[in-house]
Amino acid sequence: MSISQEVARRRTFAIISHPDAGKTTLTEKLLLFAGAIQIAGSVKARKASRHASSDWMEIEKQRGISVASSVMQMEYRGCVLNLLDTPGHQDFSEDTYRVLTAVDAALMVIDAANGVEPQTLRLLQVCRARNTPIITFINKLDREVQEPLNLLAEIESHLGMDAVPFSWPVGMGRLFGGVFDIRRNRMRVFRAGQERRGDHDEIIEGLDNPLIAERFGDSFAKAHEEIELIAAAAPAFDHAAFLAGRQTPVFFGSAINNFGVQEVLDALVDLAPKPGPRTALQREVQPEEPKFSGVVFKVQANMDPAHRDRVAFVRVSSGRFDRGMRLTVSRTGKEIRPNNVVSFLSQRRELVDQAYAGDVIGIPNHGVLQLGDVLTEGETLQFTGLPFFAPELFQAVEVKDPLRIKQLRTGLIQLGEEGAIQVFRPEAVGGSLLLGAIGQLQFEVVAHRLKHEYGVDARLMPSRYNMARWITSDDPKDLRKFMDANAAHIAYDVVDATAFLLSSPAQLRVAQELYPKVQFHVMREHG
Ligand code: G4P
Repeated sequence: MSISQEVARRRTFAIISHPDAGKTTLTEKLLLFAGAIQIAGSVKARKASRHASSDWMEIEKQRGISVASSVMQMEYRGCVLNLLDTPGHQDFSEDTYRVLTAVDAALMVIDAANGVEPQTLRLLQVCRARNTPIITFINKLDREVQEPLNLLAEIESHLGMDAVPFSWPVGMGRLFGGVFDIRRNRMRVFRAGQERRGDHDEIIEGLDNPLIAERFGDSFAKAHEEIELIAAAAPAFDHAAFLAGRQTPVFFGSAINNFGVQEVLDALVDLAPKPGPRTALQREVQPEEPKFSGVVFKVQANMDPAHRDRVAFVRVSSGRFDRGMRLTVSRTGKEIRPNNVVSFLSQRRELVDQAYAGDVIGIPNHGVLQLGDVLTEGETLQFTGLPFFAPELFQAVEVKDPLRIKQLRTGLIQLGEEGAIQVFRPEAVGGSLLLGAIGQLQFEVVAHRLKHEYGVDARLMPSRYNMARWITSDDPKDLRKFMDANAAHIAYDVVDATAFLLSSPAQLRVAQELYPKVQFHVMREHG
């Protein structure tokens, strides 16, 4: 197959959801339906062991598992689907956000009882900023849940895009009768159970089929009315609008019961885009170009602490990766020839022979590769758009032994570059360095790594801050005035970008009112 044929059959996506909405269950069912795993339950078991403890040592032991399960590749209907995991729960960290920069589409899972929840919203912000197309799956219809029309309205208001239902539920909870496929004008009848793959589900044709009305009574009468209402009120599905992030197709189902999963897989194949071009500072890179290029979007400590190597996750942007090929790191000009590069076929780590745009390969290394690094066959490229997000948790850091202050700084700079944590240096003289994170676990990881990798016993202390905004202005004088007036709250990050640290949203509102010419950014791009 040619490179462009290989690119055309790839779909790279992430599932975004709030914890407990059913992401693990759906992931597993997608793998099951694609034939990548035989028995349901294996992903679940991994999740259980991964979250059994929030203790960092324990997590480090589990790293092997999360490395293997953080990218899953499966084949379905001739397409290669790459599913990138966005860890939730206590693993939640900035990595999660950056994973979203490596996908071409997102699958949003919503618990129909809870609607759009906070963690989903945070991830959605990233998708919206990048105009990533989103497919929506509303899960758990086998329970008593919210009215589907209300859910649609909620999605629309949170996403700021039109929700276009492809299917519609008939009843819910105990009376859940199935989903009506609006586009194909037929109903798939619900049957509880996890044993089947859904190939033998009962299908009843036609919205006006008296059989459906008779069998599902009031539930169907209501669904019928709603479907007609939608037909009149909702916009028609427009593929271009979906690709531009202005419409989301919506599916209903029950992942645990293998119900509605097939439709989601089909939507990924039929609707989600193939890998697109990537913008580098130098030029736009097309996925079909013959030469290889890829970008490191995630660095993860490997399972073997004795070797302290890390796996750099590289999203292939163009060309073809062949095992044993020589690659140049654009940032340093260094040449590497990794020979134990892994792919992630159905959760097993396997040596990769070839990979194409959209695929993710894992390169074990000892710190040669950093977050944001670009690998090429020699050309120098720097991709834009790897985001850093304003932290929401802060801790001050000091070293117990003052003689090791230098090691502390070195360690923090390196960990900062790797994206493990954000480091802020206050403008005020004598202030302690501040660590900023999105997830609490990031602090534990950093304290542990400072001790074991840099020999620094760091003391982390509570900080009064819980918000940060990077500040810029077209008017340097105005910016300086703002900084002088707020000197105690100004700090610089690892690339010397200026940040304003705050302890409440009210403070931000006041600052915005007083200094309309200063811009407050929640996100900063790498490089
Ligand atoms: P997450 O990865 O998004 O955190 O969610 P996960 O798949 O672990 O699902 C969270 C809970 O919701 C699990 O129950 C799971 O069984 C349940 N669930 C998932 N899909 C459905 C569905 O379609 N209907 C219903 N009724 N429940 C669903 P749990 O009790 O936390 O775990 P377990 O004991 O079932 O393993």
